[in-house]
Amino acid sequence: MSIPMPLLDKELAWSLPSRNSNEKAFKDTRNGLYAEVTYLSQLRHDNLVKLIGYCSESDNKLLVYEYMQKGSLENHLFKRGVQPIPWSTRVSIAINIAQGLMFLHSLETQVIFRDLKASNVLLDSDFNAKLSDFGLARNGPTGDKSHVSTRVVGTHGYAAPEYIATGHLSVKSDIYSLGVVLLELLSGRRAVDEDRGSTEEALVDWAKPFLNDKRKLLRIMDTRLEGRYSKKEAQTIAALALQCLHVDPKNRPNMTDILPVLEHLRAPKDMTAPRIHSKA
Ligand SMILES: Nc1ncnc2c1ncn2[C@@H]1O[C@H](COP(=O)(O)OP(=O)(O)OP(=O)(O)O)[C@@H](O)[C@H]1O
Ligand SMILES: [Mg+2]
Repeated sequence: MSIPMPLLDKELAWSLPSRNSNEKAFKDTRNGLYAEVTYLSQLRHDNLVKLIGYCSESDNKLLVYEYMQKGSLENHLFKRGVQPIPWSTRVSIAINIAQGLMFLHSLETQVIFRDLKASNVLLDSDFNAKLSDFGLARNGPTGDKSHVSTRVVGTHGYAAPEYIATGHLSVKSDIYSLGVVLLELLSGRRAVDEDRGSTEEALVDWAKPFLNDKRKLLRIMDTRLEGRYSKKEAQTIAALALQCLHVDPKNRPNMTDILPVLEHLRAPKDMTAPRIHSKA
C-alpha cells in the first residue's frame, strides 16, 4: 500500500525503518511501523511530532515527519561541542514533554508511550519539544485493570523496574521514564553511561540519594549550567523526579498531578504552588 506524499524539502524529515531487528535493541520494527502509523496518524497535539505521510510497498517502507530543526534532546544534553541548553529552556522542555504525556494518558483509551527517552524528544527551531517514535506505544488497560501484560521492550535505563521484572505495563511505566528524563535535564548525564564507572553508571541509582536534600542537590546539577539556574525550580523538579521514580508504581504520581507542578514554574509568581501529597 502506498500513500501520496508531499515532495521532500527541508521542512520534512524521513525515516527508513530498519529491516534488521538486531540493529535496534529488542524492537520489533514490523509491529513498530504499524504502531507508529496508527498512533501518529490519529493523534494530533502540539507536543507530538507530526507524521506527514508514509509509504509501505512490500519491503520498502518510508515514514515522513515534520522536520524538527534542533534534532533530539539527547544531542543537546550529552554531545560534546554543543552549546549547553540554558535552564529556562530545560524547564520549558520538561513542561512540553509532560504536556505530550498528559495528552496520551488522558485519552479515552489511554496510550502508553513506552519509549520515553532523550533521543525520542525532538526540538523545533525554538526548542519546543515533541515526543517522537511511537513504534512501541500501545493502548493502556481497560476496565478496572491496572496494567496490560506485554513482552518487555524499551530502553535500558529508562524502563520501569516492575515492567522489566514482570512485563506489567501501565501509564506509571511512562511516569518512571519521565522521572529519568527529568534527572537527565537536571544533571546533563545519560540514563546509562558506561564510561562513568560502576557507582555512577546508572543515573537513577547514583542521583536518587541527592534528590531530597537542598544542599546535596547541587552535587548532581549539570556543571555546564555553571550555576545559572533557579535553585528553587531545580528542587521542585528533583522532588518530582524522585516521586516519579518510586519503586512501587502505585506510589508514582499521575500526569494530572505532575503537569500543574511543572506549569506552575512558568506561572505568575503570586500564584500558589500546587503540591503532590507524598504517596510513599
Ligand atoms: N522529525 C525529525 N526531525 C529531525 N530529526 C529527526 C526527526 N526524527 C528523528 N530525527 C533524528 O534522528 C535521530 C534518530 O532517531 P531514531 O528514532 O531513529 O533513533 P533513536 O531515537 O536514537 O533510537 P531508537 O531507535 O531507540 O528510537 C534522532 O535522535 C534525531 O536526532
Ligand atoms: Mg527514536
